[in-house]
Amino acid sequence: MGQVERTFHLAREAKQGRLKPWPRAGGTAGLLFFEPSTRTQKSFEVATVRAGLFPVSFNAGAGTSMEKGESVEDSIRNLAAMGHELLIIRAGEGVDMGALANQLPQPVLNAGWGKRGHPTQALLDLFTLQERRELEGARIVFVGDILHSRVVQSHLEVLRVLKVPYAFCGPHAFLPQDDVKRFARLRDAVEWGNVLMFLRYQNERHSSQQNKGSVVTDPQSPFREFFLHDEDLAMLPATTAIMHPGPVNIGQELSQGAYHDPRSMILDQVTHGVWLRQALIHQVLEVSQ
Ligand code: CP
Repeated sequence: MGQVERTFHLAREAKQGRLKPWPRAGGTAGLLFFEPSTRTQKSFEVATVRAGLFPVSFNAGAGTSMEKGESVEDSIRNLAAMGHELLIIRAGEGVDMGALANQLPQPVLNAGWGKRGHPTQALLDLFTLQERRELEGARIVFVGDILHSRVVQSHLEVLRVLKVPYAFCGPHAFLPQDDVKRFARLRDAVEWGNVLMFLRYQNERHSSQQNKGSVVTDPQSPFREFFLHDEDLAMLPATTAIMHPGPVNIGQELSQGAYHDPRSMILDQVTHGVWLRQALIHQVLEVSQ
């Protein structure tokens, strides 16, 4: 069994309540977030509790010693020195997470690193798909702001291992230069793919030149052609999955109707994320079954 399949197997065990928890009382996990989060942080908190550890969350910003000038790296080193069993870190790409993780006494899980990657999101997306309808036969189209998506970076690593075909569909200026199959219109992508992975329009990572406003407020928005409207739902085959790693900007990437369509797996992704993260905690702590 490969590493990804092993993680999915453990996530399925977590789903069925069969994963053994951390065996020693008083264990803690440090959740250190230097960028905003709702899903990842809270999902890791729930997964931590289910894994038998107490979550200790730190959110950078007001009320922390970063206001007094403490750096991200020093904050991490100090929080790591408190003796947590593991750390779960989200930070910007200015932080050398790889080098830092090698200096820390406990294992580190990447909860999102600038534009560079978000591996637990990619794994939970694919675990959700596997559980809902099998990965076998999936053809995934990433739709929208692909250039700025750390989720896509991590997806590509996993999809190459699993040999799942994928393509891009988005405005030319928001596509990476990779030699990847691409579609200039959503309706063409829908004919090829059976999983539409919409991506958040990442306003905060755009240059002012790229930032031309939203689909809702700006009829010239480059994302207009890639928006999934209520009226588009009729053209989607019954077997097409609608996915989004979140947070969703309703009215920018897809409509309210698309979000709640029976083919949407968006909230399922959140539910499966807790089991997947519990499995990863179990793996990095090497809890025996
Ligand atoms: N998908 C995701 O990373 O969401 P959050 O930024 O809310 O954690």
